[in-house]
Amino acid sequence: MTITAKTLNSALDAVFPFVGTVFINTMLMVLNLLGKDTASNKSTSSQFSEELDFSQSALTKLMKSIADGCGRAGHDLRTKDKLTWCRDEEFARRTLAGLNPFGIQLLKELPLASKLDPELYGPPESAITEELIEREIKMSIKEAVEEKRLFILDYHDLLLPYVHKVRELEGTTLYGSRTLFFLMEDATLKPVAIELTRPASPTKPQWKRVFTRSWDATGAWLWTLAKAHVCAHDSGYHQLIAHWLRGHCCTEPYIIAANRQLSVMHPIHQLLRLHFRYTLEINAIARKNLICAGGLIESCFSPGKYSMELSSFAYDQLWRFDMEALPADLIRRGMAVEDPAAEHGLRLTIEDYPFANDGLLIWSAIKQWVQDYVSHYHPDPAHVLDAKDGGPRSELRPTRTRRTSQCGPH
Ligand SMILES: [Fe+2]
Repeated sequence: MTITAKTLNSALDAVFPFVGTVFINTMLMVLNLLGKDTASNKSTSSQFSEELDFSQSALTKLMKSIADGCGRAGHDLRTKDKLTWCRDEEFARRTLAGLNPFGIQLLKELPLASKLDPELYGPPESAITEELIEREIKMSIKEAVEEKRLFILDYHDLLLPYVHKVRELEGTTLYGSRTLFFLMEDATLKPVAIELTRPASPTKPQWKRVFTRSWDATGAWLWTLAKAHVCAHDSGYHQLIAHWLRGHCCTEPYIIAANRQLSVMHPIHQLLRLHFRYTLEINAIARKNLICAGGLIESCFSPGKYSMELSSFAYDQLWRFDMEALPADLIRRGMAVEDPAAEHGLRLTIEDYPFANDGLLIWSAIKQWVQDYVSHYHPDPAHVLDAKDGGPRSELRPTRTRRTSQCGPH
């Protein structure tokens, strides 16, 4: 039973992370309840029955909605357009409503340039020139930037330090990438150009090339292959950084600090308890089966054994406590600006951005609930202990994820 649960959870979490969470929550709940004192058999049995009913019903509904969704999408793809998956419009749509809506950002200045050391990685200037962009978008760069119509997926400086290391692994490769998008009059995005870069090495100079849409067969296939590289970078960013790093890993210190520093009777502990429930267990299982050396992540993702190191590198480069909340994240990426008159206090740069449209509804509801709850117990900010007084923040320090030995725990 244990092997089956672990194996299935690993696969589920990789494919449908939320399904995996519901599944493992159910399994842990069953195991926890079965392990309780038999003296409380009656209440345990009742609680078990209620929680199991809820989990089963949630899982059934979830699986049905996934099946319905897949069925509809599959039906559309099969009957309307068999090549939807590789079209430019679909490639651009996924940056707003696909697997990874965390990467896209407003392009605020040109020309593009790397911040990495030119001595190590080669010339910092991008090969995506202003002339090339203007040729593709049919308007001036100045106008496009002023009207906030240029966007970028920038995986250049993040991936370039790993290109040579990853290329030494068998059966994989890597480039740094920049992908430019243009916001059309109909409020949809279209890809403008993709730049792939291999940094300089002791034996070779830097290599970089820009790909654009093309009408000849070779050019069209090169464009499709360039998009495939970007999709790999984007899905890798989602799993290693948006999902594992931000969702699982960076939450751990807060869970540990809350449990160590707050009494279980403390209202904030009670507020966080359900939110934090099972995260450490899931992370422990992930360390054993998913993110460990030789695990599922290293086997399936193009950075191979450098996957977790890359995640740790991204933590160092990108993660900031005050930028992780949804509104701050949207503002940092230029996908929204503060506007007191707008709903949720933010005006979106692209109105049809489902991640932000839906996310802000959830964010606002949670924020209102937390504000009401905390204000009830702490009506005066002076009641809150600061770090020097031994509050939970005194225990929070930057953490790093290290590559583990063969499937061993940290
Ligand atoms: Fe997850």
